[in-house]
Amino acid sequence: MKSFVFRTPELNFGNGSVKGIGIKAKQLGASRVLIVTDKGVVSAGILPKIEQPLKDAGIEFEVYSEVQPEPNLDSLHEIVKIAKEGDFSFFIGVGGGSAMDVTKLASLMMTNEGEVSDFLGVEKVPNPAAPVILVATTSGTGSEVTKFALFGDDAIKRKTAVSSPNIMARAAFVDPELTISMPGHVTAATGIDAFIHAVEAYIAVNRNPATDPIALEAIRLIAANLIPAVKNGSKLEARYNMALGSVLAGIVLNNAGAGAVHALAYPVAMEYHVSHGISNVVNFVHTMEYIAPALLERYANMAEAMGEKVGGLSQYDSAMAFLKAIRRLCLGASLPVGLKSIGVDPKLVPALAETAFTDTRLLGNTPYVLTAKDIQAIYSNALND
Ligand SMILES: [Fe+2]
Repeated sequence: MKSFVFRTPELNFGNGSVKGIGIKAKQLGASRVLIVTDKGVVSAGILPKIEQPLKDAGIEFEVYSEVQPEPNLDSLHEIVKIAKEGDFSFFIGVGGGSAMDVTKLASLMMTNEGEVSDFLGVEKVPNPAAPVILVATTSGTGSEVTKFALFGDDAIKRKTAVSSPNIMARAAFVDPELTISMPGHVTAATGIDAFIHAVEAYIAVNRNPATDPIALEAIRLIAANLIPAVKNGSKLEARYNMALGSVLAGIVLNNAGAGAVHALAYPVAMEYHVSHGISNVVNFVHTMEYIAPALLERYANMAEAMGEKVGGLSQYDSAMAFLKAIRRLCLGASLPVGLKSIGVDPKLVPALAETAFTDTRLLGNTPYVLTAKDIQAIYSNALND
């Protein structure tokens, strides 16, 4: 019988929900706001949908739209400087994981003395960050509801993370209409990241009785809607279900955590400069195959959530149906399932495995003890696919 804490920011979900952002910001005490976003959000025409409700609520704002994809330490220094010089006490982050994570990091630097690197690791942020509202424009990262903020440290070629409830948003807005213009390949890569969050949370060491049913619902929603959203992105119903699946996956990621797939993904993302979703999916199927023996019952449950016909099948056969179904889902969304697609050099596999092996936060949350040799074996399997 497990004891647990369940944390999640206030969630404002639904088509057109972002119209309420001005009123919400006012309720939370905002008078002058820094909007943090990226060029993709600006060119997709999303920004006026945030700015107008803020104007209507009488809130002043400035816009920083220079967030880089997969941000590194240098780009963080720039936004922190702007936030401090402007003395901003309230932030609104608009975008995918990169823009939202940068917003969280900037807000924490307003209320905590030191360098960003001082707050790396688990629960190392002493003071609550300045208030933040996050608006998700992709259905993937879940950052709008999590306590995590990630960035790359080029010096050590590693993704590093701040993990603290003190950087969680005061409110999250998930408006499926904002995701309509997302191109198919971005829909696929971000959507599979969300799916992997739900799967990794469902099998996580730190899962709990509240995360299990939410994870299965996220798996059900994404399995049924990812391919329709990729193939026919203008269909609002698929976008709605993906947005819902993705935020539910974010909620379980926040409370149960990710695992080995993410641990193997980060070194690949740093070395080959591929997006977070792609670095995950190229390791996903092979990691799940490798750790399957410890997880047959959980895999069987997920097969059922994915709509596989498992009635009458043994637990083993149901688990195998899950492995086949995740491969089919990735391929159906035109996603690669192995490292061949991104041209990973086989000679680099031992070094990638050594780096992945140092991620004790994620590997410790994986219900299968993986040695550096095991990780090498998974990468090697993925190389041939
Ligand atoms: Fe992720």
